[in-house]
Amino acid sequence: MNIVIKNGTVVTAIEEFQADILIEDQKIIAIGKDLDVRGAAVIDATGRYVLPGGVDQHTHFNFSFRTATVRGFETSNAALIGGTTTVVDFANQQVGWTVKDSIEDYMEKKVIGKAMCDYAFHGVVFDPSAALFKEITRLPDIGVPTIKLFMAYKGHPYHCDDDSVFKALQASKESGVTIMVHAENADVIDVLQKQLLAEGKTGPYYHAVSRPPLVEIEATQRAINLAAMAGAPLFVVHVTCKESMEAIRDAYNRGLPVFGETCTHYLVLDTENLAKPNFEGAKYVCSPALRSEMHRNALWEAIKKGWLKCVSSDHCGFDWKEQKHLGKDDFTVIPNGAPGLENRLAVLWTYGVEKGRISRQKFVELFATAPAKINGLFPRKGHIGIGSDADIVIFDPDFKGVMSVENSLQGVDYCTYEGMEQIGRVEKVFLRGNLTVDDGIFIGHAGQGEFIKGQPFGLAYQE
Ligand code: URP
Ligand code: ZN
Ligand code: ZN
Repeated sequence: MNIVIKNGTVVTAIEEFQADILIEDQKIIAIGKDLDVRGAAVIDATGRYVLPGGVDQHTHFNFSFRTATVRGFETSNAALIGGTTTVVDFANQQVGWTVKDSIEDYMEKKVIGKAMCDYAFHGVVFDPSAALFKEITRLPDIGVPTIKLFMAYKGHPYHCDDDSVFKALQASKESGVTIMVHAENADVIDVLQKQLLAEGKTGPYYHAVSRPPLVEIEATQRAINLAAMAGAPLFVVHVTCKESMEAIRDAYNRGLPVFGETCTHYLVLDTENLAKPNFEGAKYVCSPALRSEMHRNALWEAIKKGWLKCVSSDHCGFDWKEQKHLGKDDFTVIPNGAPGLENRLAVLWTYGVEKGRISRQKFVELFATAPAKINGLFPRKGHIGIGSDADIVIFDPDFKGVMSVENSLQGVDYCTYEGMEQIGRVEKVFLRGNLTVDDGIFIGHAGQGEFIKGQPFGLAYQE
């Protein structure tokens, strides 16, 4: 049966207007007033905003940090109650395997039958062999037009040196693959970590001391230079500090196709979170580390002005009690990453739109439209337009509450934003035309999420 969403205010990345939306066979087929909707089920959105379903282009449903792994796609309904209908998850290459085989294996064992939201993938380099650089050119054939290299994390299997980053950049450009980098100077971090531990400085706060802004700034500038030498576009993930952002902005202004994102937690949390007593600080151990208010303000300005393109969650769900405590006596062993898939909309709306820092249009761009473009999913995803998938959020702007682990579906034993004010809430969510969240409650089922192939030559090749 067709569905019509009536009387709401439709918000896109460029405008907002009163209109009805007609849905048929998973797609939006008409937008306008006085549509002929005979026989359609009516959803009344009076007093609500009607938003495109969010695209979170940075999740780790599967990530290991020494022995620990994170919560899997079994918790992907958390995306939906947070207004995100598509995630672009980092699918790790297995050493000795092709990216293609690694992703197919991951899908078969850990995604299909479990995913509740739609999903696409970035490859993640673990085995930078000659075969891998050849394979990069063929990644668009499997619907994966992006791949990440970790310049950080010395000693971990996924750490990559400049040789690998440069070769990946060289390989990427002909076939429209976007290279993503985690930019931190791994050697300097390693030295600082060892020195701090030798001085008996073992607590979570020293995570930030061992990863000062300059380790990110230096690696960001280096990655930009490598991209310039390779003549390839570059996307820098989880940018946290003013000078890294400025390096990206200035490179772009010099004519280089260099882009970046930031993440929710870098906009509202800071280094002091890591100093919380009783090992609570471990909840906020993520890399790059949380920064000061000065950097937060610069990031808000950057997303408003378009110097950084989108806001992702970097969702990485390690439990505090069992997994984070592995690093009780040594901060370098605390698994890096924090959950936030569910809270991305709430944080951006409450602390962005409601505080007057960004417009509703900019919110939609950062939350849905730009990440869809970066990953070759637009206009199927991230947009309310005729022919787009009917991924639609009906948003109640009058709700007032707090973010808490208590009503979380993330499956993690803490909430990164515990106790923080939340204005507005996701009331209903349609995933390809199917109502999957109603009155804020998930009513879908495991396995309803579909693999969405990304197209090459995404935003990094277009802007
Ligand atoms: O600390 C983080 N960000 N964990 C997830 C892996 C990564 O570096 O993106
Ligand atoms: Zn990273
Ligand atoms: Zn990440």
